[in-house]
Amino acid sequence: MSRILITGINGQLGFELRRSLAMLGECICPDRQRLDLSRPADIAAGLEQYQPDIIVNPAAYTAVDKAESDAELAHAVNAAAPAAIADWAAAKNALLLHYSTDYVFDGNKTTPYEESDATNPQSVYGLSKCRVSRPSVPVVQTTSSCAPAGWWALMAATSSRPSCVWRVNATA
Ligand SMILES: NC(=O)c1ccc[n+]([C@@H]2O[C@H](COP(=O)([O-])OP(=O)(O)OC[C@H]3O[C@@H](n4cnc5c(N)ncnc54)[C@H](OP(=O)(O)O)[C@@H]3O)[C@@H](O)[C@H]2O)c1
Repeated sequence: MSRILITGINGQLGFELRRSLAMLGECICPDRQRLDLSRPADIAAGLEQYQPDIIVNPAAYTAVDKAESDAELAHAVNAAAPAAIADWAAAKNALLLHYSTDYVFDGNKTTPYEESDATNPQSVYGLSKCRVSRPSVPVVQTTSSCAPAGWWALMAATSSRPSCVWRVNATA
């Protein structure tokens, strides 16, 4: 049975992922106290304890307005931490699924965004989400979520095309 580590399980998406992924394997759900993404240097040691085969990372610094005056923490949680998780996953041959946001775009496009569209973040939050520089990581890049009914989490976890899915096979 796969060991699936899910971050941010007290958040909207993490809560739903925990429910929907339970049927696929043994879910390990460390909260912020047990795996603190604001401390990227400690992440490898944290993951080492759990030895997951699959890591699903919806945890993020999501306070968009607050991030404007809290850029260091936003970048730690949204950029440095996912990069550290990706490095651990690559070293251990584990799968990582990471969630991003439409804030990486400027919103000026009048047709739906495509995987190949250039990013142009207009906020600290958007910029922090752009800075995960690990091209081998599949990233769900989405516009909005609706957690209470659980549909969005299920769609994101199982659909071949939610709002937009980045799946890049290059090696970092
Ligand atoms: N909600 C949307 O409409 C939407 C739209 C587009 C993209 N997204 C993306 O989807 C993902 C999930 O969003 P969401 O709405 O579920 O976010 P959320 O409800 O704000 O949950 C974020 C989770 O991240 C955790 N977290 C924050 N800082 C942390 C840290 N330092 N260490 C460990 N965990 C930490 C929080 O922990 P605590 O519970 O302890 O605070 C919380 O559980 C995010 O990547 C977000 O950017 C969401």
